[in-house]
Amino acid sequence: MIPVQSVTRYATPLREGGSLPGIVEADDLGTYVCKFRGAGQGVRVLVAEVVVSRLASLLGIRTPRLVGLDLRSDLARYEADEEVQDLLRASVGLNLGVDFLPGSFGFDRATLTDDDVATRILWLDAFTANVDRSWRNPNLLRWHGEVWAIDHGASLYFHHGWVGGVTDPARFAAQRWDVSDHVFADRVGELPAADARITPLLDETVLADVLRDVPDDWLEAVPGAETPEDMRAAYVRFLVARLGTRSWLPGAAA
Ligand SMILES: Nc1ncnc2c1ncn2[C@@H]1O[C@H](COP(=O)(O)OP(=O)(O)OP(=O)(O)O)[C@@H](O)[C@H]1O
Ligand SMILES: [Mg+2]
Repeated sequence: MIPVQSVTRYATPLREGGSLPGIVEADDLGTYVCKFRGAGQGVRVLVAEVVVSRLASLLGIRTPRLVGLDLRSDLARYEADEEVQDLLRASVGLNLGVDFLPGSFGFDRATLTDDDVATRILWLDAFTANVDRSWRNPNLLRWHGEVWAIDHGASLYFHHGWVGGVTDPARFAAQRWDVSDHVFADRVGELPAADARITPLLDETVLADVLRDVPDDWLEAVPGAETPEDMRAAYVRFLVARLGTRSWLPGAAA
């Protein structure tokens, strides 16, 4: 499981983010971008962040270190901004911390030096059905001369359909993914070669290990999957099923 730290201070909101992420300090003296459990779509988004970040690392894509951030109720009391106070109140408990990359820049295509990393990011987004890496909002940072991938909460959206119980993985397995808006859409021709290199890195055992990183607390039970272990197994089934097809891979032979 990802390590857990306690929030010691809410520093400032990150005005850019749609989900009102904030910069916080924690008792390990770290500074984190906090993704709040009380924001928007709740803890499922945090599950997607952890799973896709781990997959990214396995593919050799840089992504900031993640921690769980325990938020106590007294922190909300010292917050003057009402909107932030509401968010903190709704987020008491375990949140996600993304290691803050100080001095990072927004991604600029002109400075991309490693073409292969772009293709691996494209593969990752197709596999996890990430819809949040467009030209307008690439969710890539440049830091210490390298490209870092962030913001993976809009992946694995199948889990938002699990309210009444875990659905059929076959549908996600076959679900197409639209490349047209992606920041690296022009690399689609390189996907088959990248696919051949990446596929051997992933299997059921590896995916089960990835899911072990997700805190129990965010694996809220749904009918038929009552325990965190049931929920982990459901995610693994969905990812294994998708790995078994190529309907989602743009440009793959039918
Ligand atoms: N770890 C980090 N280090 C430095 N800056 C970051 C980090 N994470 C996020 N940011 C900055 O904050 C912005 C918003 O973060 P992020 O994209 O994760 O939030 P979001 O609410 O999901 O955003 P949106 O839905 O608007 O894309 C990023 O575009 C980036 O500029
Ligand atoms: Mg973003």
